[in-house]
Amino acid sequence: MQNFIFQNKTKIIFGKSVVRNLGDEVGKVTRTALLVYGGKSCKLNGSYDQAKMSLSEHGIDIVELSGVKPNPRISSVRRGAQLCKEHNVGAVIALGGGSVIDCAKIIAISAKTELDPWIFLEGKDSAHAGLPLFTILTLAATGSEMNSGAVITNEETNEKFDYGSKYMQPRVSFLDPSYTFSVNKWQTAAGTADIMSHIMEQYFGDVQGSYIQDRLAEGLLKTCIKFGPQAINNPLDYEARANLMWTSSLALNGLLSSGHSFPWIVHPIEHPISGFYDITHGAGLACLTPNYYRYVLDEKNVRRFATFAQNVFGIKDNEDEMVVAKEGIDALENFFISLGLPKRLRDLGVKDDKFKEMAEQVYTRTQFHGGFAELSINDIVNIYKSSY
Ligand code: NZQ
Ligand code: ZN
Repeated sequence: MQNFIFQNKTKIIFGKSVVRNLGDEVGKVTRTALLVYGGKSCKLNGSYDQAKMSLSEHGIDIVELSGVKPNPRISSVRRGAQLCKEHNVGAVIALGGGSVIDCAKIIAISAKTELDPWIFLEGKDSAHAGLPLFTILTLAATGSEMNSGAVITNEETNEKFDYGSKYMQPRVSFLDPSYTFSVNKWQTAAGTADIMSHIMEQYFGDVQGSYIQDRLAEGLLKTCIKFGPQAINNPLDYEARANLMWTSSLALNGLLSSGHSFPWIVHPIEHPISGFYDITHGAGLACLTPNYYRYVLDEKNVRRFATFAQNVFGIKDNEDEMVVAKEGIDALENFFISLGLPKRLRDLGVKDDKFKEMAEQVYTRTQFHGGFAELSINDIVNIYKSSY
């Protein structure tokens, strides 16, 4: 195991009705906050009213930024940062899924500077400060509620870039699984695929001395395999929703990544697809992941894929490890399909005429070293084609 420091500064307040504590937590840092949310889901499931009630009980004034879209746009970030400056806001509260949280994160750091927010995403400057950030999670998927990263789309250029900073780590995140009762089958399935992808990106990395990380990862994957279908079939199943929600946070909060190294591959390859075609991130991952694994599977890494097949999907032992490995990848693909996710990118409305452009965009930002294969632009195009 490699040396590491593990520190996650987000306080998680988990369970039924926990949002009643929002005003108390926000009141420790400010009397005026920006409340960021998306469309109408938060008004339909009660989370908006409960958040506002708690804030009002503690005398906290609210400025609102609504309409943040999935694959959040840089224009929303700019509007939010402007509101913070105009109203002298002292904290940002995100109420929603990963898109709302990511938008709020970049707002939090942009409110403290005159720089245009896209500068951070382009990697031309880094944040030196940020407003305190609070989140109320309503969709189990990204892990953004407990990490310091954000992904934003520039709608003028179709670039979808990520940025990370310690100033974007949420101070407190409120996780009430009952807010996710209203998440529809599609978003529940895509969220489950996204959580699994985060775990697998870290699992299929450096396999030297990562015993504890591997067993944690397998346990989290099995949790998704058990509770994803359960939540889809019975949206009001609290235990299923609660397990998915906590797995979302644990999958991407530094726990699995501590002590070993791995390059992220499928995420960088997916981001330009949702940047260009505005598709659901988790659905894109579900199409790409099995085909990426098939593309890189070879004699050197077969043991890892066979271990995955046996420990996660219970595939029976076979003298030929390659058979077990392939059955594991097929089982993963079939699991995604059983959730109602598509097998092919074309089913998401993706066209096959921008693969080269997208692969070049990925290549300028991501180092594909240290994974199972050194991917070239051509390799990325081939993975797009095999998933199309
Ligand atoms: O806009 P509203 O009405 O709220 O509807 C949303 C949206 O249409 C709906 N929704 C959210 N909570 C709901 C609900 N509907 C009913 N009931 C509820 N309780 O769900 C739709 C999708 O929301 P979104 O926030 O886009 O989903 P998700 O959480 O999957 O976030 C996806 C975004 O996060 C990025 C993705 O790239 C994508 O842009 N990611 C962020 C990461 C991070 N910061 O760590 C890592 C991830 O890998 C990912 O890249
Ligand atoms: Zn993801």
